[in-house]
Amino acid sequence: MCFTADPTADIQKALKAVDLMKILDGQVAIGNKSNSKTIGEHKFWKTQPVPQTLSGSSFAMMAMEEGPIDPIKTVEEVRQEPLPLPSGFEWSLIDIKNDVQCEEVYSLLSENYVEDDDAMFRFRYSKEFLLWSALTFRSLTAPGYHPDWHIGVRVQKTGKLVAFISGILVDIRVRSKTFPSAEINFLCVHKKLRAKRLTPVLIKEVTRRVNLRGVWQAIYTAGIVLPTPIGTSRYYHRNLNPPKLVDIGFSSLPRSMTIARLVKQLAVPTAPSLPGFREMEKKDVPQVAALLRRYLARFEITQTFETDQEVEHWFLSGRGKEGGEEGSAKWRREGQVVWAYVVEDPTTHVITDMISFYSLPSSIMKHPTHRILNAAYLYYYASDSIFRPSSGGSEAVAESSASVGIVEERKRRERLGARLVQLSGDLMVVAKNAGFDVLNALTLLDNNMFLSEQKASCQSLPFGAGDGFLVNYLYNWQCAPIDGGLKGTSMKQGAGIGVVML
Ligand SMILES: CC(C)(COP(=O)(O)OP(=O)(O)OC[C@H]1O[C@@H](n2cnc3c(N)ncnc32)[C@H](O)[C@@H]1OP(=O)(O)O)[C@@H](O)C(=O)NCCC(=O)NCCS
Repeated sequence: MCFTADPTADIQKALKAVDLMKILDGQVAIGNKSNSKTIGEHKFWKTQPVPQTLSGSSFAMMAMEEGPIDPIKTVEEVRQEPLPLPSGFEWSLIDIKNDVQCEEVYSLLSENYVEDDDAMFRFRYSKEFLLWSALTFRSLTAPGYHPDWHIGVRVQKTGKLVAFISGILVDIRVRSKTFPSAEINFLCVHKKLRAKRLTPVLIKEVTRRVNLRGVWQAIYTAGIVLPTPIGTSRYYHRNLNPPKLVDIGFSSLPRSMTIARLVKQLAVPTAPSLPGFREMEKKDVPQVAALLRRYLARFEITQTFETDQEVEHWFLSGRGKEGGEEGSAKWRREGQVVWAYVVEDPTTHVITDMISFYSLPSSIMKHPTHRILNAAYLYYYASDSIFRPSSGGSEAVAESSASVGIVEERKRRERLGARLVQLSGDLMVVAKNAGFDVLNALTLLDNNMFLSEQKASCQSLPFGAGDGFLVNYLYNWQCAPIDGGLKGTSMKQGAGIGVVML
């Protein structure tokens, strides 16, 4: 999670250290020093319907037909009883809408969930976040939340919750194929029960329950390399609170730099600058949904957001309690987990852009005074600047380079890049005003077009490359590698990965 304030040095270091194809083939681990198994040593994962590329290369997979790995099954063929647990433990379905049970999951994760390699920071998802991310809506059969996909393990005698895994239903498109999928998240085993092979049991049990609903694919991410990544992205960080980030060891103070100078360099404007930039409202949902779908159609893998209900859920339902006060409360409501903004053209009132982030704090574990790192994570965004013809005409004409000339495509990309610099700059202003210490972003979507480019709009330093990576996986889906943006920000090119997982 740490980063240095000199992004160019960091990128060069990373490029030397990271052999992309080895990572994609699962031969080396990134972002987690403890995972250095070869694929053959993955006793559990080598038995699962995931691409196994130990002997071949990722290039071989490119020639394969993409689709399910397991033979097609029916729900009747799925095991009806839960998997056996070690004695002394029992399964427990968690109703995340129940306050007591939500609190139990919150406590388990707060004390045992993901930490950085140096055990300085640990994710601290809020209860509101758990509720927001557990409930989702899907086409035709709303709501798409299956309470039986929130699975806990308890100690039989005491009832204490000691492990958890969850899934929600989303529609995923990989290149030309769209399929329902479980998005798996919050896998956690209590620290005292680690290395006892409980994880394979949790994964098999959630798979069984997902299969019982007639869903055969899953999407998930990890900070470690398992068989077999479909694509990897790198974390970037924009420091919004230099004194605190330096103090807690999240960022370092470059040699010959003072805190005062760093504060000046990293200052952000007090107000957003784009005309028509405002918070997203319910009335914007249809326009935002249409724009987002069209924008995301450009990526090789994405969540499809098939219904407007889904869009409303993901961008508005986590906006916290209405009716706040003036001042800083203007930027943050009580219990807010997602911040979504749009740009409304002042003349036509068309929504031309949207951008969002979510709040995911971390506990600071080794500092005498600071307890919480308030981190904002860039979420989905979309802009119509990639669709508008660069000269003449008012109608957007085409979506991809296949149907737009190369010169026209380049002009549109340049325009998109410039627009994203402005949009993310304004989002930074929102994040700063809402009290966040840092804005994090991965190299997925079109982020590489602006991560290094903030200087122009903000008169300040851009994002810095971090030392964390996020690896994306699909379960039971043969899939050629997808670019997660590791080639870096200097190329100013979008990635193939267009799905942002929480
Ligand atoms: C991740 C975690 C559940 C693994 O538990 P553990 O006790 O170390 O591992 P277990 O002995 O139960 O199981 C080991 C198996 O799980 C696999 N595994 C470990 N972490 C995994 C992950 N994040 N996703 C999928 N599989 C994972 C291992 O690769 C191994 O299988 P293999 O032999 O095929 O390689 C535990 O370390 C934890 O709760 N960590 C903090 C939270 C976290 O990192 N969650 C994952 C977020 S992506």
